[in-house]
Amino acid sequence: MSNDGVNNGRRRFLVAATSVVGAAGAVGAAVPFVGSWFPSARAKAAGAPVRVNISKIEPGQQIVAEWRGQPMFVSRRTPEALAMLEQMEGVLADPDSKASDQPSYVDPKHRAINAELLVVVGICTHLGCSPLFRPEVASVDMGPDWKGGYFCPCHGSSYDMAGRVFRSQPAPLNLPVPPHSYETDDVIIIGVDQETA
Ligand code: FES
Repeated sequence: MSNDGVNNGRRRFLVAATSVVGAAGAVGAAVPFVGSWFPSARAKAAGAPVRVNISKIEPGQQIVAEWRGQPMFVSRRTPEALAMLEQMEGVLADPDSKASDQPSYVDPKHRAINAELLVVVGICTHLGCSPLFRPEVASVDMGPDWKGGYFCPCHGSSYDMAGRVFRSQPAPLNLPVPPHSYETDDVIIIGVDQETA
């Protein structure tokens, strides 16, 4: 007597059981991914835009804000410093920021929405040190030709008052300009683009 009926029934049971286990496995494997799709409140806060009150920044001064764990240099340039930018082009690696990182709504030379207020990421594009703000023209330690700008103490890269790097320096690119916008005349938001504010 054939036992095909028994074997067929057992085969159907095994196929059904395997399918259930397979489905359960798929759900189990999916759960960790679902969890990773939703960032934690802490992660959201770390990446959240930051408001910076710029009303107290005097011409020639800089404050440092923090966005996404990185220093943001916010400086108010004097009319003299702005005029000086025009004279720097011959010594710069990327005067129009064609290769450097900046939003399209930022003027390529002043690298700002409103010329006097510069916002740049305060991290050297060479190996990530934080450059020093040195706005004084012809300071004793920077030399008589220094027109003001940023100096990286790690390997000596220099940037002008628009965060544009000098030619033949270890740093290859200008300091990046982060997305930012004006909420009011006195408050900027770093992390929100001007067009979408
Ligand atoms: S990290 Fe700035 S020059 Fe090297």
